[in-house]
Amino acid sequence: MRCFLQKKTWVSIISVQLLCIVLLYWTATTPPSVDVGPNQSHKALNVLQERLHNVQRTYKNIPYVIKESVASRLALNGCVCEADKKPAIDLPFAQLLFPRVWAQNDFHTAFQEAELAKVKSRRQQEFNSFRQRYQTPADFLVIAEANSPLQYPTQGIEVRPLRTVVIPGLALKEKSRPLHTVNLTATLGTFDVSATVDGVSVKGVAAMHMTLSSSDLDTLNRQLQFITYTNTLFHPKTADTVQFETDGHQSVFTIKVGHPVTPKLYYSGSTNEYNISALVTIATKTFLRYDKLQDLIDSIRKFYRTVTIVIADDNEHPQPVTGPHIEHYIMPFAKGWFAGRNLAVSQVSTKYVLWVDDDFIFTSNTKLEKMVEVLEKTTLDLVGGAVREATGYTASYRHTISVEDGGEKGDCVHIRNGYYHTIHGFPNCVVADAVINFFMGRTDMMLQVGFDPRLARAAHLEFFIDGLGTLHIGSCDDIIVNHASKIKLPWGKLDSEKAYEKFRYYSPNSSQIKNRLFFFKNRLQCISSN
Ligand SMILES: *[C@@H]1O[C@H](CO)[C@@H](O)[C@H](O)[C@H]1NC(C)=O
Ligand SMILES: *[C@@H]1O[C@H](CO)[C@@H](O)[C@H](O)[C@H]1NC(C)=O
Ligand SMILES: *[C@@H]1O[C@H](CO)[C@@H](O)[C@H](O)[C@H]1NC(C)=O
Ligand SMILES: *[C@@H]1O[C@H](CO)[C@@H](O)[C@H](O)[C@H]1NC(C)=O
Repeated sequence: MRCFLQKKTWVSIISVQLLCIVLLYWTATTPPSVDVGPNQSHKALNVLQERLHNVQRTYKNIPYVIKESVASRLALNGCVCEADKKPAIDLPFAQLLFPRVWAQNDFHTAFQEAELAKVKSRRQQEFNSFRQRYQTPADFLVIAEANSPLQYPTQGIEVRPLRTVVIPGLALKEKSRPLHTVNLTATLGTFDVSATVDGVSVKGVAAMHMTLSSSDLDTLNRQLQFITYTNTLFHPKTADTVQFETDGHQSVFTIKVGHPVTPKLYYSGSTNEYNISALVTIATKTFLRYDKLQDLIDSIRKFYRTVTIVIADDNEHPQPVTGPHIEHYIMPFAKGWFAGRNLAVSQVSTKYVLWVDDDFIFTSNTKLEKMVEVLEKTTLDLVGGAVREATGYTASYRHTISVEDGGEKGDCVHIRNGYYHTIHGFPNCVVADAVINFFMGRTDMMLQVGFDPRLARAAHLEFFIDGLGTLHIGSCDDIIVNHASKIKLPWGKLDSEKAYEKFRYYSPNSSQIKNRLFFFKNRLQCISSN
C-alpha cells in the first residue's frame, strides 16, 4: 500500500514537473500574437500630431496678409473639372486649331440615385483601408524642433523582421549638470546595448523603454553609440516610431521594418548586342480582324524572324493562327479588350513586352532596338512610339495626368496634351504620363499595374490612370509603326470590319462601366482633358 502511494506521488511530481517544462517551452516558443489590423500606426500618429499642433500654435498673435496668386495654387479641400468656354463663333476645325478643354462631371450618375449613398460610404471605407495598408509611420510628417540638445538619425535606419541593428548617431549635447538622462521608447521592438560603458546607468535592457543616465556627459554619449534596436513585433512593411527624449525635449524618428524586395531578373543571353528575340515578346489582341492580324505577323517577320508573338483572341468562331514563335490563346467570346491585353501579357516570359494593335504594320522605322536601348539605359518602365496613319499623319499621343485632391467627394483628374521634358541622351524621347497604344514596357511592371478586365470595349487611358504613381513613362517619336487605314469609305469596308466597329464603339454600357470604375475604383469625381 505504502509503496503504491509513493509510486503515485512520484508520478504526480514528475507529471507536474513535465507540465512545467512543457508550459515553459510553450511560452518560450509561442510567438506573441501581433495585431496586424488596420489601426497600427494610430499611437505613433497621435504622438506626431500633438507635437505638430504645438509647433503650429506658436506666433498666433502676429497678423499676416494672404498672397492670392500663390495661395490659389495650393491644394484646397476640394477640386473641380472645368471645361473651356465655347467660342462665340463656331469656326470649322476649331477644335483642331484651338483645342479646348472638355470636362465630365457625371461619374456618379452611373449609379442609381437610391444606391449612390451606399456606394459612397463603401468607397470611403475601402479608401480608408487602402490608405492604412500603404501608409506607415515613416510617411508621416515629422518636425525637428529647434535648439534641441538631442542628436539622432532622421531617416535611413532599416531592420529586417525580428533582427537587430545599431542605432547610429544618438547623442546628447547640453551644458554640464549633475545628472544627464535620456529616454528611448519604441512600440514594435526593444532596446539593448552592444557594449557597456562604466559610469552609465542603463535601465530597461531588452524592453521597449530604456533610460540611460550618467553624471558625465561624454561617458553617456559613448554609451549611446552602442544602442541597439531589435524588432520584436513583425508586421510586414511598416515602421517603428522611436521617441528619444531628455528633460524638456522630445524627438521622434522612424525605423523601417520589412523584408527586402526580392528582385525578379530576366536573363537575355550573354552577348552585348540586344538580342530582340531574347528580350522582347510582341503581344496583341485580335477580334474579327484575321486579315489584318496576318498582315501584322507578316510585317513583323520581315524584320524579326524569331521574336515570340502572343495573340489573345476572343472571336466567336476562332480561326487557327499558326507559324513558328506564335502563341495563340483563345478566350471566351467577346471577353474584351483589356481582358485580352491582360491574358497576353500574363504569358510573356521575356524582360520586355511590346504592345501592338492587330491592325498595325511593321516597317523599317519600327526599330525595337531603340526602345530596348531607352529602357536599358534609363529608369523608365515603359516607352511609347509613334503611329503613322495611311494619310501620312504621325501621332505619338503624349499626355500628362495630374490628380487633384478632392476630399470626400473624390479626386479630380486632369489630362493634358504634352510632356514634362526631353530625356538626356535621347533627343527624340520625352517623359510623360500616358502614351499611344504602341509601347514597350517592363513585363513585371505591366503585370503589377494590370489591365482591368472590366474595361471590355474601347479603353486606353484607363491603364495609364491605374499606373500613375507606379510607372515611369517615356515616349520616343522616332520609333514608328504604321496603322492600316482607319478612315475608309463605307462601301470599301469588309463585313468583319463593320462588325468590329459595332462591337468596339457602340456597346451601350461601356461608358457607364467606365464611369463606375472611375467613381469607385479610382475614387474620382470628375475628369477634364483637351
Ligand atoms: C483607431 O484607434 C483609435 C484609438 O486608439 C480610435 O480612436 C480610432 O477611431 C481607431 N480608428 C479606426 C479606423 O479603427
Ligand atoms: C524617462 O523615463 C523615466 C521612467 O519611465 C521617467 O520617470 C522619466 O520622467 C523620463 N524622463 C523624460 C525626460 O522623459
Ligand atoms: C537570341 O535569342 C534567341 C531566343 O532566346 C536564341 O534562340 C538565339 O540563339 C539568340 N541569338 C543570339 C545571336 O544570341
Ligand atoms: C446595360 O445597362 C442596362 C440598363 O442600365 C442594364 O439593364 C443591363 O443589365 C446592362 N448590361 C450589361 C451587360 O451590363
